[in-house]
Amino acid sequence: MVRCDQESIVATTAIGSDNITRLTLRQPDDWHVHLRDGAMLAAVVNHTARQFARAIVMPNLKPPITTVAAAESYRQRIRAAVEPGLDFTPLMTFFLIDNADPAEISAGFTQGVFTAAKLYPAHATTNSSHGVTAIAKIRPTLEAMQCLGMPLLIHGEVTDPAVDIFDREQVFIERCLIPLLAQFPALRVVLEHITTRQAAEFIAAAAPCVAATITAHHLLLNRNALFVGGMRPHHYCLPVLKREHHRQALLAAATGGNPKFFLGTDSAPHAREAKESACGCAGIYTAHAALELYAEAFEEVGALDRLEAFASFHGADFYRLARNRATLTLEKRDWLVAKEFGDGRGAIVPFRAGQTISWQLREPSPASVTAAA
Ligand code: DOR
Ligand code: ZN
Repeated sequence: MVRCDQESIVATTAIGSDNITRLTLRQPDDWHVHLRDGAMLAAVVNHTARQFARAIVMPNLKPPITTVAAAESYRQRIRAAVEPGLDFTPLMTFFLIDNADPAEISAGFTQGVFTAAKLYPAHATTNSSHGVTAIAKIRPTLEAMQCLGMPLLIHGEVTDPAVDIFDREQVFIERCLIPLLAQFPALRVVLEHITTRQAAEFIAAAAPCVAATITAHHLLLNRNALFVGGMRPHHYCLPVLKREHHRQALLAAATGGNPKFFLGTDSAPHAREAKESACGCAGIYTAHAALELYAEAFEEVGALDRLEAFASFHGADFYRLARNRATLTLEKRDWLVAKEFGDGRGAIVPFRAGQTISWQLREPSPASVTAAA
């Protein structure tokens, strides 16, 4: 089956009798990824750069990225860690803190250093202790961002310990997001890594300037995956996995063709010992097979022909960037995921470690795989 409309070049092909299926699509972008720094950056960045032309890079380093100079320097470190021959553009973000300086953010945006700013409610997740304690503390910044058309990226969970952890996204929408959008109706907002039916419905009904990213792991897993035969720390992320009916709503949103929903892996590497711990870190590492995992999810609901728009068009359009021209091809073929990347202390246990994935990128760059292995 080949479909060619105005922009789309999706082609799925059943080849010969062995029934391999191929899917060629425009090169995608990852609109939410954690690349970390130092040795961890070197270990992960080529997984992302091998598939994606661009990525929105999260600023929750230690210390967080709160100046133009810090973002420029981090961007250089990312570029230096990318394998020669891979064409990858990191898009930098500002970590919003209480009383953030609107002038610094505006300068970074107009100079092309910052693509967006990230709002972490203080203590909501990994490395977010410097996050925002009240929306009122960043009002001047949000006003400036609204004027500039600079996107605000939101980790949408309340931190109130009285709120059940499975309800924190929904309560955030009610308590924080609805009032924020009422105050800043023209602000361009991405609710990141949505996990609930309520979030999907809210985004679909919101103004066109409000969109959402969806991860592969929230499309593939429900909360049972946290407890299959015991505790599964490598399936722990924030927002935490939810019930099956929420996963079904996310699948419907991602595959429904609505341009408000686009790909954002939230691939978040942690060292094995930080995950397999009495107090394990939140984060699932999917960058080694991101597009392949989304393909599995889309295939589950018979929507592979919608993958290209979700992965390669909607995000670029929202960010007002050109769609990529290059293409890449996925093939339907089982392959075994490494048990870990790196070894000893600091090794990363990837999603599906030691198990199979049913789609594979054709001719991945051997150099990039080796570098990260
Ligand atoms: O699971 C997560 N991990 N969620 C986040 O919001 C942060 C991320 C990380 O930085 O590890
Ligand atoms: Zn994230």
